[in-house]
Amino acid sequence: MPDLFDIMRTTRSMRRLKPDPIPNDVLGQVLEAGTSAANGGNMQSWRFLVIRDQAIKDATAVFYRRAWHEFVGPHYRGGGPAPGTSPEAFARMIAAAEHLADHLHEAPVWIVPCLIGVPSRTSGSSIYPAVQNMLLAARALGLGCTLTTLYLRFEQEAEAAMGLPSDAHSYAILPLGYPLGKFGPVRRAPLAQVVYEDHWGTAYQP
Ligand SMILES: Cc1cc2nc3c(=O)[nH]c(=O)nc-3n(C[C@H](O)[C@H](O)[C@H](O)COP(=O)(O)O)c2cc1C
Repeated sequence: MPDLFDIMRTTRSMRRLKPDPIPNDVLGQVLEAGTSAANGGNMQSWRFLVIRDQAIKDATAVFYRRAWHEFVGPHYRGGGPAPGTSPEAFARMIAAAEHLADHLHEAPVWIVPCLIGVPSRTSGSSIYPAVQNMLLAARALGLGCTLTTLYLRFEQEAEAAMGLPSDAHSYAILPLGYPLGKFGPVRRAPLAQVVYEDHWGTAYQP
């Protein structure tokens, strides 16, 4: 198995997935990684909804597709490439994101990380460490995944379709499956552009 740093460098969003089922023990390892994460006061007010039911995925994916086709896709197509990426790489990312929008319901398993209680400015900090742990664990186990939130444009409708009670809120849908493509390095801007030392704007010197 690759070491942690190789895993972090190659945990890309894998948006093209095979429909093959994920063995329960493999899924269990991903979920254990999630619940190993830091969270505020160790209150663990998280809940993780595993969705395999086709009817629930179908009903929820309608809102993801609408959010992509009506808002997010046009927004990205109208803008420039992300920092550290070429126009060609950005266009490939948009094509892959559109593929996921149209095929989300075909991912064999979704994990939906949720928090119980009233959301606040810091809520996400008690669930996204678990999300990142699960992304890394999935990668280490050869599973593809993408952190997705764009369905939250239709938050109420999507959460109703997933059967969440009113005191639970979802923070992502993680579609999991064995990837069609290969894992590769993430593309990011160099440290010199994003890390400052002592004074805001002063490039960090390694
Ligand atoms: C908060 C957050 C929300 C995201 N939402 C979506 C999403 O709804 N759909 C999607 O296809 N990708 C989504 N992504 C994935 C990013 O687009 C992706 O991480 C970014 O383009 C970098 O690509 P890479 O993960 O392949 O390195 C999201 C990522 C983050 C961190």
